[in-house]
This record gives sequence, C-alpha cells and structure tokens, in this order.
Amino acid sequence: MLHKGRLLAMSSNRDILLARFVRRLLALEPGSVLDVGCGRGQLLAACAAAGVRAEGIEPDADCVADCRAAGRTVRRGDAAPLPFADASFEWVTLRHVPHHLGEPRAALTEAWRVASQGLLIAEPWYDTSLPSQAFAVRIDRLLKRFDRARGMFHAEVLSPHALIELLPVPPADIEIEAFVKPTRYAPDEFELDVMASLGQLDVPEEDRAELRELRAAIKSGAVTDNGTVILRIGKDG
Ligand SMILES: C[S@@+](CC[C@H](N)C(=O)[O-])C[C@H]1O[C@@H](n2cnc3c(N)ncnc32)[C@H](O)[C@@H]1O
Repeated sequence: MLHKGRLLAMSSNRDILLARFVRRLLALEPGSVLDVGCGRGQLLAACAAAGVRAEGIEPDADCVADCRAAGRTVRRGDAAPLPFADASFEWVTLRHVPHHLGEPRAALTEAWRVASQGLLIAEPWYDTSLPSQAFAVRIDRLLKRFDRARGMFHAEVLSPHALIELLPVPPADIEIEAFVKPTRYAPDEFELDVMASLGQLDVPEEDRAELRELRAAIKSGAVTDNGTVILRIGKDG
C-alpha cells in the first residue's frame, strides 16, 4: 500500500478507499461484523455510527489500545485461530489485511468458520492499463522490500483469484468490485511512505536506482494512488 506514513487528511486516498468499503459493507445490512486486523478501528467506528454491532481482532498492542480508548470492542490476537464460536458474526471483514498474513489460508478458513453470511475482503488494487498505476505497483514492491528488510511480514497483494483459492470450500456466491481513483501521488506523501518503510535502515544498494527513478516519476506527476478491490463471498447464493 502506498499510504503507510501518510498524514491523515480529509478525502485522502485512504479515506476514499475506506469509504468505499464501508458503503459496500453497510449495503449488506449486517446484523454483526467481526473485523479481522482492525488496525486503529476506523471500520469499527463506521459500524458503530451506523448502529451495527461490530468487534475487532488485532495483534498490534498500540492499535488495540487506540480502539479501546475510542470505546470499540477489540481483542488482541491473531487471524488464526479466532477465539469465536462457529457462525458467531454475520459478516467477517479483512480489509487490506491478507498480504500481511504469513498463513492466509488458515486465516480465511477461520474467517469462514465464524461467519454465518460470508466474508467481505479488500486488498489494494492497481489498474495497470494506466501507466501511472504501473508506477504505483513498482512503488508498492519497493516499499515492501524495505519493510521486509526491517523484519516486517509484507507480501505482494493477493488477487481475488488467489483469495478464492484459499477458501476451505468453493463459495456459493462471489461479487468483485475493483475501484481506483487515479489521483496524483504527491512527492511529500512518497517521502513519508519511504521514511515509514525504511525505518532506521539505509536504502539498499540494489534499490537506489529504482528509488531515484520513482522519485522523478512522482515529481513529474506520472504516478497515481493505488485503488482497492472488494470481494464479497457469500455462504448462500
Ligand atoms: C494495512 S493494515 C489495515 C488495517 C485496517 N484493516 C484498515 O482497513 O485500516 C493491516 C492490519 O493487519 C494487521 N495484522 C497483521 N498481521 C495480522 C495477523 N496475523 N492477524 C490479524 N491481523 C494482522 C496489522 O496489525 C494491521 O493492523
């Protein structure tokens, strides 16, 4: 993803993509939601505002503390195993989480088990028919190499096909919505993202030329922000 270090601003790409997911989730009129990898609880907040019962599970202690301070119900834990009974939530969501999971098959099997209606999953997405998005893919790969070099698990995004293949059973009902708003990826945002990805590391020798080229492309306005692909997987057709 391209926005890790980005400062929160109204109608940032992050806000736009989140709003898209929230809209899709609320259109399902969920009675209850479990958000796996809920981060700082933005989806939980949107559910609360809409009167939907929602809980989260998240391994990061700071994120869990933030969520709880905001009054959200969140457990500290992993995507697998999930500490919930079978079919205990109508919908289980994983938003921009699968590419952070070392064992995505176990996570999707668990999500499927605790969902009574189905899963709503999103991953970052790029429309590579646009040259500006092909640059965005290169940035994503570069920043993930930096993340991995400092010990973080951060894989390539999973395609809808890859996600479906990980499910424990062939799903009855699938809907896919890919969305990108190709707005210019700003140089200052890129610098924040690079700083967040690198941490204390120096840029590895083999990545220096790539970083220079991407900086130049961003400066010239040739790069746009990533989109999102939303996958609804229903248990009934
Ligand atoms: C890119 S963030 C997305 C956060 C949130 N879902 C959102 O849409 O803003 C990825 C999240 O996955 C969480 N995560 C990483 N490994 C995980 C695991 N094994 N089980 C559950 N969540 C995990 C991270 O801590 C982080 O909060």
